[in-house]
Amino acid sequence: MKKSKITPLLFTLLTFIDISTGASNVFNVVSFGANPDGVTDSTAAFLKAWQAACGSAASATMMVPSGTFLVKTITFGGPCKSELKFQVAGTVVAPADYRAFRNSGYWILFKKVSKFSLVGGTFDARGNGFWACRKSGQSCPPGVRSISFSSANDVIISGVKSMNSQMTHMTLNGCTNVAVRNIKLLAPKNSPNTDGLDVQLSTGVTFTESTVQTGDDCVAIGPGTRNFLISKLACGPGHGVSIGSLAKELNEEGVDNVTLSSSVFTGTQNGVRIKSWARPSTGYVKNVFFKDLIMKNVQNPIIIDQNYCPDHKGCPTEHSGVKISQVTYKNIQGTSATKQAMKLVCSKSNPCTGITLQDIKLTYKKGTPATSYCFNAVGTSLGVIQPTSCLTR
Ligand SMILES: *[C@@H]1O[C@H](CO)[C@@H](O)[C@H](O)[C@H]1NC(C)=O
Repeated sequence: MKKSKITPLLFTLLTFIDISTGASNVFNVVSFGANPDGVTDSTAAFLKAWQAACGSAASATMMVPSGTFLVKTITFGGPCKSELKFQVAGTVVAPADYRAFRNSGYWILFKKVSKFSLVGGTFDARGNGFWACRKSGQSCPPGVRSISFSSANDVIISGVKSMNSQMTHMTLNGCTNVAVRNIKLLAPKNSPNTDGLDVQLSTGVTFTESTVQTGDDCVAIGPGTRNFLISKLACGPGHGVSIGSLAKELNEEGVDNVTLSSSVFTGTQNGVRIKSWARPSTGYVKNVFFKDLIMKNVQNPIIIDQNYCPDHKGCPTEHSGVKISQVTYKNIQGTSATKQAMKLVCSKSNPCTGITLQDIKLTYKKGTPATSYCFNAVGTSLGVIQPTSCLTR
């Protein structure tokens, strides 16, 4: 008896709350003219929905419902008036013809957003035509990144799937406090330059519980990255996790406080890599922790390469100005696809210092032990190190 009286009242209350705080602030792209047929150009409708949602005084949701939406190069610019959630249930596809992008450099760009979340959805850049163009050696456009964030703060990206990017799947440039979790970045193993996540000039990024299967770096960490945490990453195929390439420029910001933990690399070119051009630079790398990692058939599980200089061009001094210090490798186990499982080749002019190896077990083939090679790498080892440590003290 009591229940039947209370329930209608509760129901009315809940409905009221929903209308007053939620439903009225949902900006559905279809209401702005977007077409879920996958062929009609919905770019203008997405922009109109964005303008309305971004201009909302109360927190808002921009909604992309199920269906397939064709969207060309687009910038979602902030700052917005209030907190904004960009919720995608369906699939957003790029134009089938890669030439439609011209020289834009990006497909979807979120610029100067804050208190923003991108939740769910599939973004398919349909890169096949572009990769084929590049492989054929014709002259092709430069290609675009799929999902870019620039000068964004307090951002959450979750449940997103990005497929077949022309170039990098996702980039964070000049951002602070960004949580990227439970996402998938997928492109074929032989697709050129399809990095997963690229971060630079950004502070306080976390990248967790995600899968990257691609043709280039799973994660590339560029100059000016600070307080970056990666954990529970499944990487491979791909080129692994790379700090660098650094020293592209003479005046470059450093990389400080990067942790990668509890992750698995499967069939990748590298596991954990630090890479710099062999030329002068103000850049540095310090306070890096690689721990609790599993390598499965990885070509270079542990690698520092400061001699990067393809064709010996543009490296007059042939040594890197990038200073690497305080790098810890702890509990890294598994199999190497090449004999040399550990390679720490530091700058001729700037030795790597404060390198710590602890509990490393990397094997090659039965009967053929893995080897290690160091150049100018200074540090200490703790626990069992296999292959034998080559660090100098
Ligand atoms: C290093 O980065 C982590 C986030 O990954 C952060 O929690 C920690 O405070 C940072 N440490 C320093 C000394 O800034």
